[in-house]
Parts: sequence; structure tokens; C-alpha cells
Amino acid sequence: MKHARLIALSVCTSFAAIGAADAAGGEAKDVKHHHWHFAGPLGTFDNDALQRGFQVYETVCSSCHGVELLSFRNLGQKGGPFHLDGCPAGIPDSVDCSNPNENPVVKAIAANYKFQVTDGPDEYGEMFQRAALPSDRIPSPYPNEQIARLANNNALPPDLSLITKARHHGPDYVYSLLAGYEDAPSTIEVSPGLNYNPYFHGDLSQNLKPEYLDEHGHAREGVDVPLGGLLAMAPPLSDGMIEYTDGSPQTVEQYAADVTEFLMWAAEPKMEARKSLGFVTLVYLFILAGLLYWSYRKIWSDAH
Ligand code: HEC
Repeated sequence: MKHARLIALSVCTSFAAIGAADAAGGEAKDVKHHHWHFAGPLGTFDNDALQRGFQVYETVCSSCHGVELLSFRNLGQKGGPFHLDGCPAGIPDSVDCSNPNENPVVKAIAANYKFQVTDGPDEYGEMFQRAALPSDRIPSPYPNEQIARLANNNALPPDLSLITKARHHGPDYVYSLLAGYEDAPSTIEVSPGLNYNPYFHGDLSQNLKPEYLDEHGHAREGVDVPLGGLLAMAPPLSDGMIEYTDGSPQTVEQYAADVTEFLMWAAEPKMEARKSLGFVTLVYLFILAGLLYWSYRKIWSDAH
């Protein structure tokens, strides 16, 4: 009995704690729903979007965010943005371009990447920098968390390898955040180094200007606390900043959608294989169910 009461009490307090955490989190605007090529049970990645998305990541996001779970070779694996079935003209027959380590596009991306790889120690015991190879992990911008924070107003730019899985409404959220920066509402104060975004979770009741607060420090009657929050990332994208060679629009929305599709692939590179296996399994089960029903009818048809 005593135990039952204890359990009931701890369940109640946990719910209360969850409620409080929710309330402290503040409200953000509902995410924009983008029409994703990879959505739905049969959805696949759009390879052109993946290539453009990597371009956006490499040009812009990689200055602050790593994708530490990805190696360059992953970009050339089956289903990856730069996978090749055969070699482009001019490459000797002996090369197997479907092998990510020999894929010439992947090799060039690794060799020209904006960060080199730390290797070593050499014969003198020193670490050294060298150009990346397809087998290397994609290097992150900062050597450790402290330097990352120092460079970003004490905020930590998260690794983006799994970000589309780590956030509620994953891809729609990342897309909305990147394409959704707005001017801060006039009722709030934004400290230097922070930026307003209606899709970021925060509690802006603490940021209302003094004239909108009553004597207890709460919002005056009729004053709404704006949706959204303040984050240390300034709007990273702007129209026309990256040149696309395939004629796609060079807009913030397009860049945001492409980089999100790339990050979705990064988080689940085997999604296509998983979906097609699921589909084949369903077809198999459907046929099996039909056969079982037919044999059931056949076996029992004489038994009355
Ligand atoms: C100049 C550095 C910088 C650049 C460039 C940059 N970011 Fe960020 N980003 C940050 C920082 C710092 C944070 C942490 C913000 C905070 O918690 O206040 C962040 C946070 C994020 C978050 C997490 C938001 C959340 O819900 O916690 C995502 C997603 C993100 N960035 C994606 C991107 C993408 C995609 C790009 C490229 C288009 C990009 N960032 C470019 C610095 C940067």
C-alpha cells in the first residue's frame, strides 16, 4: 500500500515537472510544411537536391558546424549525392568509379576541402596537416568545444550529422528555422550577438521591454509575448549567395530546402534501402496471405 502511494506520488511529480519544463520552454511558431521528395513510404532522395545541399553545407554551414559522422567516401556510396555507376570519359578502364574510394568527384571534394585533416605523428613525433582522402571523416571546423564557443558568443553550434532526427518535426523544423528569420518584434529587446527567429524555442517573456511589463515583471494586460526565441546563429543564408550551376532558384528557401534534404540523407543514408525492403516485405506478406486463404478454403472445402 505504502509502495503504491509512493509510486503514485512520484508519477504525479514527474508529470508536474514535465509540465513545468514545457511552460519554461516557451512557444514557437508552427513549422512550415515543405513538400519533401523523400516523404512518404516510397519517397526517395532527389539526387540533384542532395548535390546542391552539400554545396550549401560546404560553402556556408561548414564554417561553424561539423557533420562528424560522415566520411567523404559516404558521399560516393550508393544512394549518396555523388555516387557514380560508371566512370566519366577520360578515366582509364582499370578504375572502378562506383567504388567511393576511387570516385573522382569524391576524391576532388576531399582533396580541395576547406579544412585539412590532422594526421600523425610523423617520424619526429609531430602531428601534421594534410589534404583529405575519401576515407577520412569530413573535418569539423573547431578542434574542441571551448574554441567553438569562443567563436560563437558562447553558444555551441551543434554537429549536424543527426540534427534532422534530433529535433521535433526534423526536416520541416530545420527548413523553417533557416528560411524563417524575421525582424524582431518591437516589444522585445535583443541583446547583441543574438537573433530573433519565430521557429526557435525560447521564452521571450524575459525579453519584453520595460514599458510592456507591470510592477511584478509580468507582461502587461493586452501585451502578447511573441512566439519564438533568440539564438546565437545569425541568418546564415541570403538570396544569391551561392551559385547553382543547374539553373535552380538561388533563393534562401531553395538553399534551405536543399541543405535540409542533404542533412536528412546524412542522418539516414540507408533510408531508400529501408523503404524498398519494407515495400517488398509488404508485397510478400500480401501474396502469402492470399495463398494461405486459398489453401484454407481448399483444405476445408470437403470437410462438412
Ligand atoms: C557563423 C557560424 C554559423 C553558421 C555559418 C551556421 N550556423 Fe547554425 N548555429 C550556429 C550557432 C552558434 C548555433 C547555436 C545557436 C544557439 O543555440 O543559440 C547554431 C545552431 C544551429 C541549429 C540548431 C538550432 C536548434 O534548434 O538548436 C541548426 C539546425 C543549424 N544551426 C543549422 C545551420 C545550417 C544548416 C547552416 C548552413 C546553412 C548553419 N547552421 C550555419 C552557428 C552557425
